[in-house]
Amino acid sequence: IKETSEDVSEWAAKYLIKKINDFKPSADKHFVLGLPTGGTPLRMYEKLIEYYHDGEISFKYVKTFNMDEYVNLPKDHEQSYHYYMWNNFFRKVDIPPANVSLLDGNASDLDKECREYEEKIVEAGGIDLFIGGIGPDGHIAFNEPGSSLASRTRVKTLAQDTIRANARFFDDDISKVPKKALSVGVGTVMDAREVMILVTGTQKAFALYKAVEEGINHMWTVSAFQQHPHTVIVCDEDATLEL
Ligand code: GLP
Repeated sequence: IKETSEDVSEWAAKYLIKKINDFKPSADKHFVLGLPTGGTPLRMYEKLIEYYHDGEISFKYVKTFNMDEYVNLPKDHEQSYHYYMWNNFFRKVDIPPANVSLLDGNASDLDKECREYEEKIVEAGGIDLFIGGIGPDGHIAFNEPGSSLASRTRVKTLAQDTIRANARFFDDDISKVPKKALSVGVGTVMDAREVMILVTGTQKAFALYKAVEEGINHMWTVSAFQQHPHTVIVCDEDATLEL
């Protein structure tokens, strides 16, 4: 528990940098990183860019897999997760574009896209550290309430709560929010060797309570990580309101 969301971002950025540097990635040994989007990790990305400029970290031998992407939103749409990632992070550091993997929500065969994404993660050697955020309904990636805790990457129909929560990014117009997304499954994230979940703000307080103080429940998919051997939740004071 950190005091402010700024402290959460700082801690998360520093933790990731230490992980990558301790791993000592090289041309034949990449560090494999799972990445989130959303408002919560934005400041962490800014800090990572600052530390990159200070020479504290290089992403040259890092491979990334993003958690999710909207279906049927053009890649260059300002709210697509492709746009978010390139604009807020990838193009500002030294990661080779070939090392970046994002789900393609415009693929002609979405099931095939999801299957191949899972295969690509396995080919990369599995994910060393998956960083995630959560929705107010306790979802991780787009694993909405009711998702199987063993789920893999697939097409998900978004919950009404999520559509409402994300309307702020679409001119506050619910009709503009995509209704479907591709998302890694809870099982996909559970397979990561380590997981770091960022939770900030009072609007996430109830979800954090459900995540850690009640039983494992597929209606609050983040609760699955109680069973992960190496998960850390980094939160601010505001998010602890219900604990
Ligand atoms: C979306 C994303 C999640 C993210 C959540 C919370 O639903 N698919 O991965 O954790 O938003 O976003 P924010 O950090 O903006 O609250």
